[in-house]
Amino acid sequence: MNAVVVRATPESVPQLVASATSLFAEDGGQRDPWMDLTWPHREGPAYYSDLVRQSDSLCLLALSPTGSAIGHLIGRIRRADPLRPGAVAGVLESMRVESEHRATGVGTALADEFFAWARESGANQVSVTAYAANESALSFYRGRGFTPFEVTLHAPL
Ligand SMILES: CC(C)(COP(=O)(O)OP(=O)(O)OC[C@H]1O[C@@H](n2cnc3c(N)ncnc32)[C@H](O)[C@@H]1OP(=O)(O)O)[C@@H](O)C(=O)NCCC(=O)NCCS
Repeated sequence: MNAVVVRATPESVPQLVASATSLFAEDGGQRDPWMDLTWPHREGPAYYSDLVRQSDSLCLLALSPTGSAIGHLIGRIRRADPLRPGAVAGVLESMRVESEHRATGVGTALADEFFAWARESGANQVSVTAYAANESALSFYRGRGFTPFEVTLHAPL
């Protein structure tokens, strides 16, 4: 892998927004007719500016040797609640690697950093949600130890 994984800073929020915009277009935009593809552009700057400052959030960027962003990962901690009192979950909210840098280990490096952060933050499990049709992401997650737990079913009306 010819990349380095760093924590995003307030100054790198535009790179997070750009990667999230591409993820929306490639993933939700192809698989969910209701997805608002304008959300990252409209709400992303404020949303990610807030996240990079929160201790319960992880905002990672993968940088190429020239310093350009070639991937991102967002993680959150979901604290125990009355329904699941023992569960503290590290939630992998989103991740993406630029297509020309895929299958070189960048996604694995991002995920490894997320696992370490989740453990250090007190999580005792990790979770991620992906579209059932996103077979390459599901394959990637299975390879990182994730297995199906709940399944959400949809039907058109
Ligand atoms: C999913 C994604 C982040 C993986 O990143 P990556 O940098 O390609 O991952 P790696 O190079 O670390 O690959 C790790 C493993 O995943 C496998 N993998 C990666 N892309 C794959 C694909 N398209 N199909 C099948 N397996 C794939 C690799 O073969 C490798 O397997 P191994 O561990 O058995 O060797 C990347 O493909 C991506 O950005 N996809 C588009 C955005 C997306 O769908 N994000 C997830 C939304 S839930």
